[in-house]
Amino acid sequence: MGRSVPAHVGIIMDGNGRWARQRGLPRNEGHKAAERAIHDVVEACGEIGVGYLTLYAFSTENWNRPRAEVDFILSHLLAGFIKRNIDELDARGVRIRTIGRTTGLPSRGRKALLDAIERTRANSGLQLILALNYGGRAEIADAVRTIAQAVAAGRLEPGAVDEAVISGALYLPDVPDPDLIIRTSGEERLSNFLLWQSAYSELCFSSVLWPDYTREDLEKAISGYMGRERRFGGVDTGGGPA
Ligand code: FPP
Repeated sequence: MGRSVPAHVGIIMDGNGRWARQRGLPRNEGHKAAERAIHDVVEACGEIGVGYLTLYAFSTENWNRPRAEVDFILSHLLAGFIKRNIDELDARGVRIRTIGRTTGLPSRGRKALLDAIERTRANSGLQLILALNYGGRAEIADAVRTIAQAVAAGRLEPGAVDEAVISGALYLPDVPDPDLIIRTSGEERLSNFLLWQSAYSELCFSSVLWPDYTREDLEKAISGYMGRERRFGGVDTGGGPA
């Protein structure tokens, strides 16, 4: 039985480095080329009626990369992406949000991000969630710390800690779990992306390198999702958790 359009799509944008290497270019050229794909996928999600799009732009593990590459992504590219796209995103009603330990971002990128979040706060279209300095285990650790503080302060009984309490302590508790997670470039791993939230997500792996990913690739992934059944460990709910 078919399903409706996914409310929340997550994408692990992988393969920028290989895209550049295939062309004999420095890795940062691959990250630069990623912008076209990001633009087209955001536009398509808005038009298709996806409610939330989470893009894995930088993981807590990505700090192990050369300093110049990290700075390029988190300052130059992030600020540049926002500068070049914010007017169009705002005009389309896109609301920008973020998950991750954003206090750890370099100040130029962080400022651009916070300004974009503030400017688009009241927009009611697609929510574009940028996962920056994000790790699923770090998010769960941060949630557990918040809950432990509430218990220590006497505001919460240990026996009251259940799945809903943990979900409620994650970075964006109002955002539904992703229905569909796409990873590009042929790798078939979650790599610490939305670990708690992906318990029942459909996974779609594409061999296309991220800078080459097109609107048609996204539409194919969404059609595949809409044609597939999902049972949530019990009876088929037809369209998501009852
Ligand atoms: C994966 O390719 C890509 C990254 C770790 C960085 C992703 C960053 C962007 C797509 C641009 C950031 C955009 C914004 C808006 C901040 P890889 O370098 O791991 O590729 P490889 O596996 O082929 O080496």
